[in-house]
Amino acid sequence: MKIKIVQAVPEKRKVKPADELKLGFGKIFTDHFFTMKYHADRGWHDAMIEPYRPLAIAPTAMCLHYAQEIFEGMKAYRGKNGAIYLFRPRENSRRFNMSAERLCMPAVDETVFMEALTKLIIMEKDWVPRGEGTSLYIRPAMIATEAALGVHPSGEYLFFIVTGPVGAYYSEGFSPTKIFVSEDYVRSARGGTGACKAAGNYAASLYATKIAVGMGYTQVLWLDAVERKYVEEVGTSNIFFVLGNELITPPLSGTILPGITRDSVIRLAKHWGIPVSERPLSMDEILEADARGMLKEAFASGTAAIVSPIGQIYYRGREHVINDGRTGPLTEKLYKEILQIQYGEKEDPFGWRVKISD
Ligand code: COI
Repeated sequence: MKIKIVQAVPEKRKVKPADELKLGFGKIFTDHFFTMKYHADRGWHDAMIEPYRPLAIAPTAMCLHYAQEIFEGMKAYRGKNGAIYLFRPRENSRRFNMSAERLCMPAVDETVFMEALTKLIIMEKDWVPRGEGTSLYIRPAMIATEAALGVHPSGEYLFFIVTGPVGAYYSEGFSPTKIFVSEDYVRSARGGTGACKAAGNYAASLYATKIAVGMGYTQVLWLDAVERKYVEEVGTSNIFFVLGNELITPPLSGTILPGITRDSVIRLAKHWGIPVSERPLSMDEILEADARGMLKEAFASGTAAIVSPIGQIYYRGREHVINDGRTGPLTEKLYKEILQIQYGEKEDPFGWRVKISD
C-alpha cells in the first residue's frame, strides 16, 4: 500500500521533553501520526503519515455510541548504540486482527500494519527517548466512523497510530504496588470481549479502579465473573504468582488478555527450568500458601507496565504483604532480562527483537 507522507512544518513541531525522567505515561505525543480509512465498498484506502491533529468525526460516528473500537499497546526501544528496536510486533498485529474480528471490524493486513508502524517510527525517531526505562509508546487503534445510530457493525472505519515518549506506567516505577481484590465488580465474563483489546473493557474497569485508588491502592485484582474466586488480571496487565517454586498465571480461557509480555515471561521462565503453570488459581489457594509461608512473589506483566512487582494485596478487609513488600528475585530477574532483550543489550534466543533503525 502506498503511504502518502505530509511533513509537519518546522514551526509547528513540538519541543521535545527536556527531562526524560519525568515523562510519565501517555501525556506527550509526537509530531506525526498514521491514518488510513476504510469503506465497505472500497476497502482500506488513503494511508497517510501526517502532522498530529484532532480527528474530525461526526457526532453520530458509531464508535462514540456503541464502543466499536479496538487498540494495541507497543513500544519502540532505543539501545545504547542508538539503534531502535520493536518487541514481537507481529504478535500485536495478530492480536489486533483477533480483536477486530470479535468486534466485527475489518482486518488490517499484517504487512500494512508493519509498514505503517515502521515508517512512522523512523520518521519520529528523534522522539525515541534515551533515558533508562524510557521508550516510545505506540498506540495503534481502530474506530467505527460511520454516522449512524442503528446498532450494527459500522461500514466505515479509521485506523490510526499515535506515538509518544513514556517512562514508567505506574508512579511507583519498579517499586512494588498495592493491589485491591474486587469481589463486587468484574472485568469480563466467558463469551464476552475480555480477551480483546476493546476500548469498552477499559471503560468498564474504571469504577472498581476508582474505588481501589480511593482506598490507597494502585490497581484492582480482578476475579472470575462466575464464582468470584479465581484471579484473572490486575488492572490493565496479566498477573503471575510464585507459590513455592511454581510460577502460576491464569489460563487463556477467553476472559483475559493474551498478553505478549505474559507469553514472554512464560517462555523465559520455562527456558530457565522454572516450573510454570497456566491454570486456575483461587484466592483461597493464594491465602493458604501465604499462611504456610509459600506465597513468595507476585507481579503484573504488560507492555506498558513491563514486569511490575506487587508488594501487598488487600482481600476481604485484610492486607497480605508479599515478600516483606519487596521485589522478589524472580520478578527482578524477569524484568531485567526482558528489558535487556528489548533494548538490544542481551542475546535474543527467541528472535523477539526487530531492529528498525541503526
Ligand atoms: C499496554 O500495556 O500497552 C496497554 O495497552 C495497557 C494500557 C491500557 C495502558
